[in-house]
Amino acid sequence: MAAYGSDSGNGTPDPLAAIWEEVRALGLTSHVADLDAHGFTVIPPELATPNGLADRLREAVLDVAEARNGVRPDVATGGTHAGYRKRFAKEGGDSPFGELLQSLILEGPVFEEALMNPALLAITTYLCGYGVVLSSMGCFLKGPNETPVDLHCDTLLPSPYPHEALICNATYLLTDFDLENGATAFVPGSHKWCRAPRGEEGLVLRNPQAVAVEAPAGSLLVWHGNTWHGAFPRTATGLRMSMPVLMARPFMRTEEDLADQVPEETLRRNPPRFAVLVQQGIVYGYRGHTDANRRGRRAAKYLGAYQEDCGGLLSLDPLRMHLYG
Ligand SMILES: [Fe+2]
Repeated sequence: MAAYGSDSGNGTPDPLAAIWEEVRALGLTSHVADLDAHGFTVIPPELATPNGLADRLREAVLDVAEARNGVRPDVATGGTHAGYRKRFAKEGGDSPFGELLQSLILEGPVFEEALMNPALLAITTYLCGYGVVLSSMGCFLKGPNETPVDLHCDTLLPSPYPHEALICNATYLLTDFDLENGATAFVPGSHKWCRAPRGEEGLVLRNPQAVAVEAPAGSLLVWHGNTWHGAFPRTATGLRMSMPVLMARPFMRTEEDLADQVPEETLRRNPPRFAVLVQQGIVYGYRGHTDANRRGRRAAKYLGAYQEDCGGLLSLDPLRMHLYG
């Protein structure tokens, strides 16, 4: 019998066996079970953010916020973001999630490290396959507020959804999460319903099935794109910081269009998978015949390098590779 992950008995690598081996090696089996049963899981800091990753991410996010806004966010009091009313505030209320800092992946190596984190890659590959790509990386900065985030699915398609995750969310908790701290809310098992909430059932404060996540800073909160989730208002002082890394199957429209934005130097200092994660393997979205061929040659180069590096686990369409290679 072939070893797990090496091949499926006919000489070709078996991605399902390989990801199971990765999950086992990283101690994530109970988290895969959580995902299957409940649609979400909390990976604790010792598995999710070794080497002080969460502390470094928190400081880097604060640096980016200060550079973009001219003011360093006040984590201890939340005073810079209390009752935040810019951009996402609802009519007559405050923002349900405070400030959203978008597009962090190109803000420096610590964000690249956050994407290449083995635990994050294993759990999101389990959900969306070895071809999974980064859709967006941002950070919510939420001070004391009044408005909850109503329950929704991150799969922004008309219901019904397929059972398989088309997207998934891996959110780094950069501060402690509990009910008073304005934690994310989940309806356990809702990923199996394959539809978005309707009407009153989407109101997080009135839905008795919605539970608050309780987890310390440094945890990685992961959920299936079909799972109903929202957030409770923050009644405590201080800032809630959470850094969503949204991942998608490669045929999905991504939130960020990274394909032509990633500097060569950034690609060079990372393993071959990084280029595929930051959309260098995506041909769709071309702006004409010449551009299609340019994007195709780039995709062939980076998909080919990753395919070789991972021992053939990436399922490539040979016709497409021939056309664009
Ligand atoms: Fe969401």
